[in-house]
Amino acid sequence: MAVKNAMTSDFLHSAYGGESMAHMRYLYWAQVANKEGFPNIAKLFKAIAYAEQVHANNHFREIAGNTADATVTAGAVFGDGKTVDNLQGAINGELHEVEQMYPVYLNAAKFQGESGAERSFYYALEAEKIHADLFAQAQKAAKDGKDFDFTSVYICPICGHTVLDEAPDKCPVCGAKKEKYKEF
Ligand code: FE2
Ligand code: FE2
Ligand code: FE2
Repeated sequence: MAVKNAMTSDFLHSAYGGESMAHMRYLYWAQVANKEGFPNIAKLFKAIAYAEQVHANNHFREIAGNTADATVTAGAVFGDGKTVDNLQGAINGELHEVEQMYPVYLNAAKFQGESGAERSFYYALEAEKIHADLFAQAQKAAKDGKDFDFTSVYICPICGHTVLDEAPDKCPVCGAKKEKYKEF
């Protein structure tokens, strides 16, 4: 169902822009982490880049042909730093989404009765909480000169739910089955 209200439409466009940039930024920072000898941190960036793509696609679908002059909310650093600094940029961006952006967007969508946008914002908000935490753990390791210790990252392709080492039987956010999860 396409969005009807201008304010929620603006927020979908802004969130689409922010997620798209996060996707690209994380792919780039994955390359940097690989070069610095952190293959697992690189893998985490790649996996979470995919989760941000899932969010962008969800928002894009809700926009459904509606055009708007929207500013883009992207509370993150840009450019090429060391992995420890890039992880700080990632943490800041995720926390901006968790504390500022998505709670406001989610409540606006609720207030305007935009159920599709509400679902899309809710999915993103739940995943970004996990992303902030995982990037913080990765940064702790990197500060000690170590890689982040895990075997695989699993991403739900419906909502972007992110989990280390084993996918749950059912996604706790959207209910998708274990077999749907994409492994990195
Ligand atoms: Fe996201
Ligand atoms: Fe995220
Ligand atoms: Fe999910």
